[in-house]
Amino acid sequence: MEMKNTAFDIDMIKKVYAEMPAKVDAARTALGRPLTLSEKILFAHLHSDMKLENFGRGKSYVDFAPDRVAMQDATAQMALLQFMQAGRPKVAVPSTVHCDHLIMAKNEAKQDLEVANSESKEVYDFLASVSNKYGLGFWKPGAGIIHQVVLENYAFPGGMMIGTDSHTVNAGGLGMIAIGVGGADACDVMAGLPWELKWPKLIGIKLTGKLSGWTAPKDVILKVAGILTVKGGTGAIVEYFGEGATSMSCTGKGTICNMGAEIGATTSTFGYDESMSRYLAATGRAEIAAMADGIKEYLNGDAECYANPAQYFDEVIEINLSELEPHLNGPFTPDLATPISKMKEAAAANNWPTKIEVGLIGSCTNSSYEDISRAVSLAKQVNEKGLRAKAEYTITPGSEQVRYTIERDGFLEIFDKMGATVFANACGPCIGMWARVGAEKQERNTIVHSFNRNFAKRADGNPNTLAFVGSPELVTALAIAGDLTFNPITDFLTNEKGERVKLDEPTGMELPPRGFAVDDPGYQAPAEDGSSVAVAVDPASKRLQLLAPFAEWEGTDLKGLKLLIKAKGKCTTDHISMAGPWLKFRGHLDNISNNMLIGAVNYFNEKTDSVKNQLTGEYGPVPATQRAYKAAGIGSIVVGDENYGEGSSREHAAMEPRFLGVRAVLTKSFARIHETNLKKQGMLALTFANKADYDKIQEDDTIDIVGLTEFAPGKPLTLVLTHTDGSKDEILANHTYNHQQIEWFKAGAALNIIRKQVAG
Ligand code: F3S
Repeated sequence: MEMKNTAFDIDMIKKVYAEMPAKVDAARTALGRPLTLSEKILFAHLHSDMKLENFGRGKSYVDFAPDRVAMQDATAQMALLQFMQAGRPKVAVPSTVHCDHLIMAKNEAKQDLEVANSESKEVYDFLASVSNKYGLGFWKPGAGIIHQVVLENYAFPGGMMIGTDSHTVNAGGLGMIAIGVGGADACDVMAGLPWELKWPKLIGIKLTGKLSGWTAPKDVILKVAGILTVKGGTGAIVEYFGEGATSMSCTGKGTICNMGAEIGATTSTFGYDESMSRYLAATGRAEIAAMADGIKEYLNGDAECYANPAQYFDEVIEINLSELEPHLNGPFTPDLATPISKMKEAAAANNWPTKIEVGLIGSCTNSSYEDISRAVSLAKQVNEKGLRAKAEYTITPGSEQVRYTIERDGFLEIFDKMGATVFANACGPCIGMWARVGAEKQERNTIVHSFNRNFAKRADGNPNTLAFVGSPELVTALAIAGDLTFNPITDFLTNEKGERVKLDEPTGMELPPRGFAVDDPGYQAPAEDGSSVAVAVDPASKRLQLLAPFAEWEGTDLKGLKLLIKAKGKCTTDHISMAGPWLKFRGHLDNISNNMLIGAVNYFNEKTDSVKNQLTGEYGPVPATQRAYKAAGIGSIVVGDENYGEGSSREHAAMEPRFLGVRAVLTKSFARIHETNLKKQGMLALTFANKADYDKIQEDDTIDIVGLTEFAPGKPLTLVLTHTDGSKDEILANHTYNHQQIEWFKAGAALNIIRKQVAG
């Protein structure tokens, strides 16, 4: 059946496009200079309460009015539980829920989907009924991965959206400013309240030349990650431009923007061009392309900004696509970039196991028709050249539309001949939902995948799995070779007959020549009037729990806090609130809190999930220790290292400590989303004024936070550390709270203020 797209909200897009030129022109006049694309979209989405001014990059907090909200099922539960507390009859902006995170990849798509539908039934029913009641579009399990479904149906050039998943940024491939947030932000926007963001810095990436041969859009972002590292994009929008940008497909741009999350960027985007117009038309949205054509100059940066980028961007990087090599990034961090020609040396120097056990393609990052068609051009050669794939090989299609189309076009049959397993159209191994046989043995092994993240345990829960990230075509070639050091550009393989053969370069198609098709896309539109729809949450449920508001600040300094943990080194949101098996408790704050910080390394004993209980002197798991403090009515503090909370947008990483009675998190530095999430939940997110003071924190410290009665923007707080020998240290802690965020702290959480506003 030919695909018809009726999911998007055309009236909203018409309004955005009708208003955009005047808003951009006003901003250009006010600033008296040309504007980048990012600035145009930001200015076009200022909240009506905001006065137009030259906002300070990396300084000013600005209120915005995003056009859309998207949520995946793991984060939507908490976001919607929070939204229900706000007391609104309907969502204020078009919003959607996507069931993609809770499906365990084990056998193959059909069976795995059946298991998920029965195991997560109460969650799916809850999400479907809340969506129906409050006017949200609902995408059933099996419909696809949020970011692919958003790109296919909702993203539009020049739009602004937020999503409760850090890879929301994927929609930048279609020229949006799309930003990953916590559920509390989604709740604000769905409730019609302004959404606040620090005006971002701008990184310009000029792409020259053209991709060819083995090099793919994925290699652009793998290279960028190598240059900027996991922190390099923090607080910035990355804007790509140049002939190399326009020569790439829209979905390739999506891949690049997707992994902007891995460099900590607020988001990434590209100017509107013909590749976007082609993609919009192919996905049933020619009407939007026609409208975008009409205001094209507003959907691109001004030419002067690209001619002299150093004047208009805070940082400029230039990459020549014609010279770019395929890369593999990893293991354990997405910014350790190794060009494929250097992998032999790198693997030997680091003693990485070179035998590849599994190659995995697909996911939200890389499952476009183009990606799959290029991978299939290699899979085809397995038969043609008498080869046998040496590693296991799996595919997770990004959407039912992609899956249906690649099946129709015979690609799945070719993969099948190679011995591939097709998992459900869902996150699966990308989010740790992979029941990998033997992973529990924790053997050291190597996998390659075309996903975005490769932190320890991310894919299969095994801390000894070394995961390398590459393009789908490179992953396919490596799965065929079964060898991490295989360079398909130069190396030969030996086929089953003992002959030396070489893989031909991958080839593919940007879009399906016969168009996309889908039978059941898996979409449920909401009821026109949802007032009579009932939403049931069983009080005995282990997976869903209605929320109770957090307590207000007591109005005094915080005295006698115990140190819960001094985390050493990398502490991502996966370390703070692990995914994988815990995903099923995302709608139940009490139960999911049993994973709090269990992945963080305790500075004092170098162990995970083992901290000293200061009340008993014994070592125990972090959550149990914190529950003991809570039961005794004692607050606590968590200390962290650099870029604490990097990774995902999950607000559970902030809600769990809040729920269990942690009062403050003090770090050398924070990842943006996590810092904001802590603030939203009424926690204190503080940084060492002097980073060396991290060393002053001792295991048995009792800590007072002083200065809260005069808590004010830009004014540091004082922490008094009392050590076991009775000696004291006084240290200064900085913070980035503005007036409004201080009110959140005082009210106990941002949501407590929202509820009062809606009621009032
Ligand atoms: Fe899903 Fe996120 Fe991957 S949306 S496919 S887990 S990065």
